[in-house]
Amino acid sequence: MLLPLKVRSVELKNRIVVSPMAQYKAVDGVVGDWHLMHLGARAVGGAALVMVEMTSPTPEGRITPGCPGLWNDEQQAALQRIVAFTHAHSSASMGLQLGHSGPKGSTQLGWHDIDEPLHDGNWPLIAASPVAYGPQNQVPRAMTRADMDATTAAFVASTRRAAAAGFDWLELHCAHGYLLSAFICPLTNQRTDEYGGSLENRCRYPLEVFAAVRAAWPADKPMSVRISAHDWAPGGNTPDDAIAIARLFKAAGCDVIDVSSGQTTRQARPVYGRMYQTPFADRIRNEVDILTMAVGAITEADHANSIIGAGRADLCAVARPHLADPAWTLHEAAKLQTRAIDWPAPYLSGRDQLYREVVRQQSLQPAVPKADPAESA
Ligand SMILES: Cc1cc2nc3c(=O)[nH]c(=O)nc-3n(C[C@H](O)[C@H](O)[C@H](O)COP(=O)(O)O)c2cc1C
Repeated sequence: MLLPLKVRSVELKNRIVVSPMAQYKAVDGVVGDWHLMHLGARAVGGAALVMVEMTSPTPEGRITPGCPGLWNDEQQAALQRIVAFTHAHSSASMGLQLGHSGPKGSTQLGWHDIDEPLHDGNWPLIAASPVAYGPQNQVPRAMTRADMDATTAAFVASTRRAAAAGFDWLELHCAHGYLLSAFICPLTNQRTDEYGGSLENRCRYPLEVFAAVRAAWPADKPMSVRISAHDWAPGGNTPDDAIAIARLFKAAGCDVIDVSSGQTTRQARPVYGRMYQTPFADRIRNEVDILTMAVGAITEADHANSIIGAGRADLCAVARPHLADPAWTLHEAAKLQTRAIDWPAPYLSGRDQLYREVVRQQSLQPAVPKADPAESA
């Protein structure tokens, strides 16, 4: 997990990515001091790539009123401050996840009733088809050609702003039931035009957005696409479909498929477990021959090392463990007693004490477990 990886011109120092995580702390789409602290702490915490949470190209494309946007100068300057800080004080690369909430927009902050509508101040939703995410959610309006063109143009404008803000990496969010995902998922796309029906048709609009964004994003900088590789629901996309979806994005110039799953329908019944989405990343990597990012319940270095070492994925995105520990990568490396990772200079004495403490704690563990007296009775 500590081996470098070069993607286009970006040299990632290792294989750990801070997965995008909504903080619900933006005001009018503008990130603030919370984000500087949150992203800054994780950038000095050892991961190679730090992804900013889903950021919307339009006000209506935000998931909640606390989600960031990138449609005006103030939002761009606020993100630029964070990128400048992390570039000045860490060796992490910075990524932005661009996404439009579509049918899952206008909902409450994550620690309130997640995915449920606001108590007041709801805004109208657009989607592939008029399919509500749940019984309480608004029925979205099916996008017209004009909606599609306007939304694509907004994605392109945000892409230019992301490049100007200095981001190294751009991810297009096509997972979790949001706008582009809702086109790909057959349960939420009921269109009868060339944007519905077959998998190729359902991917057509997300691919149009990808192509437009890719053309506006600097050619030497990488792009990833996050997909839901399994809808975990009858009639939904399966891991076989994910292979076809990945092939389409690869042909369009995508560098990395970020392989998530689910959250496209409330009927989903995912089977959780450690590294539970890695089999999908493994299949895509090895059948489609494209770099993949595994994500989901990767909680220790052993997981990441076995995923990378076995060729199941090229990168491991780690989300919740990074909420508990901003320096997850540094701390996992200490447990392995490897010095192949740099600590921030002001923290070096903390590093040295931690490495000694790990040795002391490991030496306290009995090499051979003591016999259980009950067994000899
Ligand atoms: C608080 C929180 C916010 C999240 N926000 C996003 C997001 O903005 N975009 C996204 O693609 N995934 C988001 N996710 C999903 C994570 O990126 C990740 O895919 C998921 O938590 C599984 O990884 P983990 O088991 O390491 O937590 C979020 C997860 C959490 C816990």
